[in-house]
Amino acid sequence: MRVETDMDRQKIIENAKAYVVEIFKGNSGGHDAEHTMRVYGNAMMIARKENIEDTFTIALGALLHDVDDYKLFNTVNNQNARDFMTENGVDGKDIEIVCQIINEVSFSKNKDRRPTSIEAMVVQDADRLDALGAIGIARTFSFGGEHRRSLGSNIAHFHEKLLLLKDLMNTETAKAVAKERHSYMEFFLKELEHETGGM
Ligand code: ADP
Ligand code: NI
Repeated sequence: MRVETDMDRQKIIENAKAYVVEIFKGNSGGHDAEHTMRVYGNAMMIARKENIEDTFTIALGALLHDVDDYKLFNTVNNQNARDFMTENGVDGKDIEIVCQIINEVSFSKNKDRRPTSIEAMVVQDADRLDALGAIGIARTFSFGGEHRRSLGSNIAHFHEKLLLLKDLMNTETAKAVAKERHSYMEFFLKELEHETGGM
């Protein structure tokens, strides 16, 4: 039996959006509220195209996927996400599902492991899509600037991670989008090579 009504769920999602704006205040670059909102948008688009009807845990997983990121927060066991969901009356079973989604999303923690639920697959794809294409290029240089990395080492990141992502997508919908974003990055890298003779 579900504890939340549809209206409760709508309200919880609205509260989660406000919560991420608040918690990422002052952060720029890779992990900010805008990244989270794009991941949420990607996740909803994928869920719709994959004909997934119940999107509540996908929505919460996307919105909360970075609120316990170790690079920004010193929490254990997804404490920020858990506190938010508990305070908002999310069903205990859903809290566990969302935490599992969050744990399975990260590239670094799950390099060779596939997510174990369709919900986690959708959110992982949604997060990875935001590392690709024009937005992926913009985020890479933004991250590089923030960490005072050279242009050359940012370019290395394309080869070490970004160009591998298109073959790691879970859903057919994300595979198609990733393919387009991948060729856009290849086009960019080719032009950069052409202009600079290699970095
Ligand atoms: P996630 O934890 O969601 O997988 P990351 O924290 O690894 O994401 O990366 C956030 C953003 O910064 C991404 O767009 C990623 O491509 C970029 N980024 C991460 N590591 C590097 C790096 N070493 N050099 C340049 N950009 C990076
Ligand atoms: Ni993310």
